[in-house]
Amino acid sequence: MQLHSNLVVLIFILVNSCLAVKDYLFKSCEQNGFCHRNRHYAKEIESDPNFKSPYNVIPESISISGGTLKGTVVKESVETDIRVEFPFEIGVLGNSFHFKLDENREHNQQLVNYRRYNETSNWAFTDGILSNTEAKFSKHKGSVDVLYKTHKVSIQFNPVKLSVFYKTKEVLVINDKQFLNIEHQRSKENNEDNLLPQESDFNMFLDNFADSKNDRLPLGPESIGLDFSLKQFSNLYGIPEHADSMSLKDTKGKEPYRLFNVDIFEYETDSRLPMYGSIPFLMAVRPDVALGIFWVNSADTYIDITKDKDSSVHWISENGVLEFIIIVEESPKQVNEEYGKLTGNTQLPILSSLGYHQCRWNYNDIKDVLEVSSKFDEFEIPYDAIWLDIEYADKKKYFTWDPENFADPGHMLKELNRTGRNLAMIIDPHLKTGYEVSEQVISKGLAMRNNDNQVYYGHCWPGESVWIDTLDPKSQAFWNDLHKTFMISDEYKNLFLWNDMNEPSVFNGPETSAPKDNIHYGNWEHRSIHNVFGLTYHETTFNSLVDRLHTQRPFILTRSYFAGSQRTAAMWTGDNMSKWEYLKISIPMVLTSNIVGMPFAGADVGGFFGNPSKELLTRWYQAGIWYPFFRAHAHIDSRRREPYLIGDPYTSYIRDAIRLRYKLLPVFYTSFYEASLTGTPVLKPVFYDYQSSGDSQIYDVEDEFFLGNSGILAKPITDEGATGVSFKTPNLEKENFYHFTNGVISDKIYQDGFKAELSDIPMLLKGGSVVPMKARYRRSTRLMKHDPYTLVVALNKNGGASGELYVDDGESLSSEFKVLFFSIDKHGVRVDSTGDCDSPLEFEKIIIVGANFDIESVSSGKLAKDSNKVIINNPKEFPIKFELGPSRHDEL
Ligand code: GLC
Repeated sequence: MQLHSNLVVLIFILVNSCLAVKDYLFKSCEQNGFCHRNRHYAKEIESDPNFKSPYNVIPESISISGGTLKGTVVKESVETDIRVEFPFEIGVLGNSFHFKLDENREHNQQLVNYRRYNETSNWAFTDGILSNTEAKFSKHKGSVDVLYKTHKVSIQFNPVKLSVFYKTKEVLVINDKQFLNIEHQRSKENNEDNLLPQESDFNMFLDNFADSKNDRLPLGPESIGLDFSLKQFSNLYGIPEHADSMSLKDTKGKEPYRLFNVDIFEYETDSRLPMYGSIPFLMAVRPDVALGIFWVNSADTYIDITKDKDSSVHWISENGVLEFIIIVEESPKQVNEEYGKLTGNTQLPILSSLGYHQCRWNYNDIKDVLEVSSKFDEFEIPYDAIWLDIEYADKKKYFTWDPENFADPGHMLKELNRTGRNLAMIIDPHLKTGYEVSEQVISKGLAMRNNDNQVYYGHCWPGESVWIDTLDPKSQAFWNDLHKTFMISDEYKNLFLWNDMNEPSVFNGPETSAPKDNIHYGNWEHRSIHNVFGLTYHETTFNSLVDRLHTQRPFILTRSYFAGSQRTAAMWTGDNMSKWEYLKISIPMVLTSNIVGMPFAGADVGGFFGNPSKELLTRWYQAGIWYPFFRAHAHIDSRRREPYLIGDPYTSYIRDAIRLRYKLLPVFYTSFYEASLTGTPVLKPVFYDYQSSGDSQIYDVEDEFFLGNSGILAKPITDEGATGVSFKTPNLEKENFYHFTNGVISDKIYQDGFKAELSDIPMLLKGGSVVPMKARYRRSTRLMKHDPYTLVVALNKNGGASGELYVDDGESLSSEFKVLFFSIDKHGVRVDSTGDCDSPLEFEKIIIVGANFDIESVSSGKLAKDSNKVIINNPKEFPIKFELGPSRHDEL
């Protein structure tokens, strides 16, 4: 009996600990001092109708110069002796409104920098942003207005409140609920005198959570909190990374969304828990306006959301200056453009990085790598990069090769290069103690330091390690040298890099990361820079590759990221599982990344942990071809699952899927070109184009999407055993969408759902589109370079279509390029172009569906008809003129 009840207890503990595995590793808001206190403060205020905020603008403090308004906010409370001043400024950057508030702090003899961290924007913003000096100001009694173009911000003094107007209508009110809270500098001894009656002092000077107990919190409480009321907005997106729906959820009575970069083991779906990356950018959309809030802060952050007709967002960060950007425009596209002007756009990727990537932990040796590579050729499956995980390095010492298994890496690179393939290798920021590289990091003073200002030692893959502090500008030259000497010789340019574990992941650290009171360059606490550390690391790697490759575009995959990471790296969603729910959630996750200006995103195809069924693997490849970053990856304990091992018919289905990705590479590349200019998505949620369609359902569609502006609408199958698909988007009264399953155009117009076998990749093509494709099978992207194009044309209801194609050499940082604009109507096919690249392009076929006019002959190429499709073979000269037949229906 005793044994029995012990067993019950044990099972209970096991079941419970399984369910709660993430919860006990990571702090909830309740357990995290600053979040707990800010939520408490907000609750107290909400329940007190007579509450009067202690934060006011001092009217006499307002001064205006050069397009910037400066002033002082005072925190003053009659119940206590508190009186603290906070200087602030408001200006206009691009078309956006920029707010920054700091605290004049006293030097308190601490080891760490005593100021509020104000350098997040240095990392997040792109170089050369100029303040807009055209802003105008108008002072009133009790308020002051900042005006620019059709935007106005009205700053009310008492209590401080900011109302944002767009075209005379109020769209946003900041500090509407008076949740503004700035925990000003104080000491433990005089803390009581510094508390407002509504405040809780929970964990202000200590942390009682699990492994965080050693946190000395040398600067005490320093959090900031602020609320934003979004007028008539109920569709909110962004603030990745979470394994959750694209449309943000109401968090009332639940956990807030948390932004804190962590290595989250076996993450769960439908979760607001933090993950590997953070982009504190939120977008809200209604039919006539789109709005962006960029909370410029790299500390641990929580976001509470109340969704209603007027939604509200409460941002809470552990420390730092209070800095944010407000973007208000007509459309999500314009909001992305403005955000891109501030944080930069995604770099146009090297073309071969848009092909298929084959990864697993690990390919064992050079023979293994080359065998896998030749198997792809034997099965005629294209791929562009094979990846080496941590086992290639000698005892996981990065910048070394395992002497037995990877004795002649030059040979491997040369062999891969023969078929236009790349090798991607991992280099993490933890450096094993006791070898040359880590010794140098220590001796050069480039290591992250602990709270005693000594080198910090922690554990990661290689065992005991130190971490390079890439906030230190001196780390760049050191990193450059390492990359130059390690990367064999200048001859081998077919190398991609993978920066992993850069949250940073520390196996024995609090919440699997570095202690918050560790110290970085500038004596800043890790607490202040935590969420931007990953960016500093992959940017340093990027610069090293530019230094090594000079003119070639580097490719870097990063696991941890921040606002601005899009400039130099691609991301993936980390360690998912071989389960259907992870395939499904990958789509909204990748879409969210696209919404916040980080389009080069993907998820591990097949799932990282576990072994997918053949059906799941097939469906995952069919979905994965749409991820802007398309890579299969698997854990070291997973069975081998390269596509050729699965067996037919699955191998054939997967081959067809990968080949379809290659056929569509011109569309992906063109979409990336557009994203690199405008910051807009490559994988575009449907609400972008249907914002004002009057269909309120469209805002939540997260399982279908457009590929850039190509008109291709895809909906991957993510349910086990599904045999059909039904699209939500087509607005059949106004537009025609043609069946385009598997990339084969049909003249059939979509009406409602259709069958989709396991061999099928459901897609539609919007009438009015011209899609440039490359139809021939080649082993890799590079080998497709001179292949001719096929144009797929789907005419709209007016008998017209247009499309775009971007072309360049596919690899140079600045190369000659050409953009072609196709347009088709009953008169013929025109091609206009811009750019300076004049290498000739070949077209082998034009396929037209939906023509309600009868083409009798064409001025160039050979005309053929296949049921209701018009085909022009080998057109040589543009424009192509159409001669219409007697049964012409050209009344349009
Ligand atoms: C991390 C990465 C995973 C990689 C592994 C070993 O878990 O997320 O992709 O395979 O480390 O390097």
